[in-house]
Amino acid sequence: MVTDPDTLMARARACLDRAHAPYSHFRVAAAVVDDQGRVFTGVNVENVSYGLSMCAERVAIFTAVAAGARRITAVAVAATGADLLSPCGACRQVLVEFAAPEAFVYCDAPGGMHRWTVGELLPHAFAASRLGRG
Ligand code: THU
Repeated sequence: MVTDPDTLMARARACLDRAHAPYSHFRVAAAVVDDQGRVFTGVNVENVSYGLSMCAERVAIFTAVAAGARRITAVAVAATGADLLSPCGACRQVLVEFAAPEAFVYCDAPGGMHRWTVGELLPHAFAASRLGRG
């Protein structure tokens, strides 16, 4: 069962060379763990029609969901860039769908990794409860 951040980040980093990033040359890989301890990975997949490109986080989350996962308990995101990585807004909203506000998101940072919670990354999120249907 993968629960520690270093192992989860290592799982993400191991996928970096599978990113398809011929346009940005910015490789990203993500690993998510579900409430059963299963790990799913993803990489960014770019397209010559740029707007069709997909972030590593969403590839990993959608892969998890396709395998039957519904609760994601932690995420690690690795990248080839030198700066602190920060998930895009679309990925934050998708994360909110499957992760609690307390879930940790570990991101590559110079010299190590930075940790946020989902709630810190997307406060006041549009979540299912706001539909008012329980
Ligand atoms: N990208 C990700 O995969 N995740 C992030 O958190 C930030 C950005 C990708 C999208 C695109 O393929 C490339 O990085 C440059 O934006």
